[in-house]
Amino acid sequence: MSGGELRFDGRVAVITGAGAGLGREYALLLASRGAKVVVNDLGGGVKGEGSSQRSADIVVAEIKALGGVSVPDYNSVIDGSKIIETAINNFGRVDILINNAGILRDRSIVKMTEEDWKLVQDVHLKGSFKCTQAAFPYMRKQNYGRIIMTSSTSGIFGNFGQTNYAAAKMGLVGLANTVAIEGQKYNILCNVIIPTAASRMTEGILSDLLFKELKPQLIAPVVVFMCHETYTENGSYIQSAAGWATKWHMVTGKGTILRSSIEQQNITPEHVKMEWAKVIDMSEAKHLNHTQSTGKLVNVLEKLQNNNIDVQEDTFKFGAKDLILYALGIGASVKNSNDLKFLYENHSEFAPIPTFFISPCLIAVTKLNIAEKLSMISKTHYKMRLHGEQYLEICDNLPTSGTLTTTCKIIDVMDKSSGAVVVLDFETFDENSRLLVKNQMSSFILGAGNFGGKRHAGTGVTMTANPPNRLPDSSMQYKISDDQAAVYRLSGDLNPLHIDPKFAADNGFKQPILHGLSTLGFSVRAVLAKYANNNPTFFKAVKVRFSAPVIPGQTLKVDMWKEGRRIHFHTSVLETGANVITGAYVDLKNIEAKM
Ligand code: NAI
Repeated sequence: MSGGELRFDGRVAVITGAGAGLGREYALLLASRGAKVVVNDLGGGVKGEGSSQRSADIVVAEIKALGGVSVPDYNSVIDGSKIIETAINNFGRVDILINNAGILRDRSIVKMTEEDWKLVQDVHLKGSFKCTQAAFPYMRKQNYGRIIMTSSTSGIFGNFGQTNYAAAKMGLVGLANTVAIEGQKYNILCNVIIPTAASRMTEGILSDLLFKELKPQLIAPVVVFMCHETYTENGSYIQSAAGWATKWHMVTGKGTILRSSIEQQNITPEHVKMEWAKVIDMSEAKHLNHTQSTGKLVNVLEKLQNNNIDVQEDTFKFGAKDLILYALGIGASVKNSNDLKFLYENHSEFAPIPTFFISPCLIAVTKLNIAEKLSMISKTHYKMRLHGEQYLEICDNLPTSGTLTTTCKIIDVMDKSSGAVVVLDFETFDENSRLLVKNQMSSFILGAGNFGGKRHAGTGVTMTANPPNRLPDSSMQYKISDDQAAVYRLSGDLNPLHIDPKFAADNGFKQPILHGLSTLGFSVRAVLAKYANNNPTFFKAVKVRFSAPVIPGQTLKVDMWKEGRRIHFHTSVLETGANVITGAYVDLKNIEAKM
């Protein structure tokens, strides 16, 4: 687009209701930029009563006095074809149509008469339809057209006493949506203006300050640009007032599937009630066009058809603050200068500790209500879900901020009599669909066994590995602070078991326990410190089995065995000798041992 003046030479514009207010400003500005303008106005009162040629004539005279080209048209917009005929008869074409004419007949719903309803619908909605329908064939033939519909915040938010007006104004949005679709291939673009301006319509309604500042001439440049050949938006809604403009979008929530399979044909209102929070959750709302919206529905049906509703998606937003909080949650400290790169966002090597990327899968599990799905599989109500094993593999360079998408799928279920083992696979992608990490989580579901399932894991499950049969090659110890769980939980796992003494006691623990994943983080830090010079980019994967809980205040002992690029490790509590992580290993891409 050139930076020059936006001109309309050779273009013919029809503006309805251009005898006053906003329409008059559109007419004057378009004419001053070279457009030939049809000034349409019925010239009646604000409630649609009477008619007069005066207001259209005055505006035409103003345009002509300024050297512009214009003709008046006195028809009602309900006779849209006559208005378009005026353009064709005088100028031979119509390039721009601004549907702007309007009236008000405000009354509360009970008092609204049939006539109040009908006249308002007729002028706004039917009038815009009639004018557009009449102009469309000419625009199609020219392969060019710019159409504006005029809506209102009253339609979008509602407004007391305006059932007729609000309904018509929202109707215009629907009309514009469809005209935009039908016109697209003929280069006929249709957009909506949502104005607020001082005019006879708003006199006495707006406060004095607003009335003074909401000048219609401040909206005209916005609408005039929306009518220019360089304007490319189609089907958009632009709000403008007082020298300010913004775009509106309709958004849709992520939603939730209310059926468990394609065979399930009945849904109970009670189930709907239970799922309602997910139905109305707008935290991940997106704007979808018609095709995307249909695609979303097809996707739901495909998932149901393929019995694949356990493939779920969750988004996870993070930044430097989250990385730093996580690092503190697994014991990184400014006392260790080598840890500063995990704790200070302006450090030249600021980087995530790789195990942070278990967080998206952990949060997905809590949000996606996997627990509920698990009880559906084992068909029992279980007592408690324990984190059994965890595997994390890095697939690409890790970012320090972003919005990640994690897919989650149940890949295996084993029947261990006293409970069920359920294995979940997760894949986490960045905004460009780059696969960053894979996670695998095994949960032991106490009390959900004996359902006649298989005992052993299938091929997709990553197994633990025992260390070699010799004394450890190296060991590291970490004193766990009393507040470690209180810090770690802020990274997302808010289970009261880790903070609430009463909750812990009710679940059979003497006191709140440290998160298994915090213990995992400490252990991986030990491996990185010993064998990777604390360089997080050397890290490839980790696998652990959680064997027993750790209490904040205890001391962790991490024993390590180096076997090529695999570092086996084993974590225990120094004070009690209890093994807390077993069968574990870290795979490194490079070794830089500090013995
Ligand atoms: P206005 O009353 O100054 O202008 C409307 C013009 O439409 C008048 O000149 C009137 O004679 C003409 N008109 C009425 N019925 C007609 C018909 N059947 N055929 C042809 N012309 C007819 O009002 P204003 O404020 O300039 O409004 C313009 C448009 O903007 C209207 O559609 C209105 O609903 C809309 N709007 C205005 C807002 C504001 O704050 N002023 C807020 C939201 C929407």
